[in-house]
Amino acid sequence: MQTMPQLGAGTYRLEGDEARRAVCDAISVGFRHIDTAQFYGNEEQIGDAIKTSGLPRDDFFITTKVWHENLDQGSFMPSVHESLNKLKLDYVDLLLIHWPSPNQQIPMSTYLSLLKQVKDEGLARHIGVSNFTMAQIDEAESILGAGEIFTNQIELHPFFQNRQVAEHCKAKNIGITAYMPFAVGKVMKDETLKAVAEQFDATPAQVVLAWMEEKGINAIPSSTNKDHLKANIEYGKVKLNKDQIQRIDELDNGERIVDPEFAPNWD
Ligand SMILES: NC(=O)c1ccc[n+]([C@@H]2O[C@H](COP(=O)([O-])OP(=O)(O)OC[C@H]3O[C@@H](n4cnc5c(N)ncnc54)[C@H](OP(=O)(O)O)[C@@H]3O)[C@@H](O)[C@H]2O)c1
Repeated sequence: MQTMPQLGAGTYRLEGDEARRAVCDAISVGFRHIDTAQFYGNEEQIGDAIKTSGLPRDDFFITTKVWHENLDQGSFMPSVHESLNKLKLDYVDLLLIHWPSPNQQIPMSTYLSLLKQVKDEGLARHIGVSNFTMAQIDEAESILGAGEIFTNQIELHPFFQNRQVAEHCKAKNIGITAYMPFAVGKVMKDETLKAVAEQFDATPAQVVLAWMEEKGINAIPSSTNKDHLKANIEYGKVKLNKDQIQRIDELDNGERIVDPEFAPNWD
């Protein structure tokens, strides 16, 4: 079974032919971990890219997410089967709850039992959550039991390090996957990150990815540019020292980007 590669290719905002091409490019430069969601509307194109790669299924680690409108008893399972059909896969490596049910319209015990059922039926190797607060993580763990939640996928980048949630999850042995790790491109313009990057003849993006690995955080940046994808996957040339890590730690200014009206009461 494929373990989750440290770095994955995000696919939010990628649609149609562009999604197919970007994921083919990602695979061709070495990405094997792809992050999608029902909401992105591109599972079909991602399935095409996986298929046309000709690589064995086992080489990949594929994540998708159940949208919050599909968390009720009647919609959950059909939506998962639809995702698998579009992806042309028998199982996903990781299935996440994309957002907790807004205002707890659907009780967490309902949709987490369904999530567990997906795993028990072999349709997902691992299960997890996204955008869960600390209290919601505790509730989820009390429903599923310890050791079931593989990851909490949350917004995390140098300007918003989400430390409380990350530490809370780590203490429970729940992984953290950073979404929007480049703050949607903003890291590229930061003077501190540019200065650190220069020391390695690297890019700010590579510095951020090296910093995340140091912190034990998985990252899923997206790119539509093959040169960027190639550079991103080669972040290993950056070996940060304590001082450089601390300078990046100090960039946190609490700048949250993703905050839809259906978001939970953030920590
Ligand atoms: N669970 C959730 O609720 C949630 C929410 C948001 C996102 N996500 C996931 O997280 C993934 C990442 O987030 P994101 O795509 O919004 O933002 P991001 O990864 O922080 O930033 C993407 C931007 O960075 C640019 N970029 C990437 N590599 C670069 C490089 N080497 N040099 C210069 N620019 C570079 C891209 O432009 P180019 O295309 O020009 O390279 C793109 O504009 C999403 O795709 C999605 O899979 C999950």
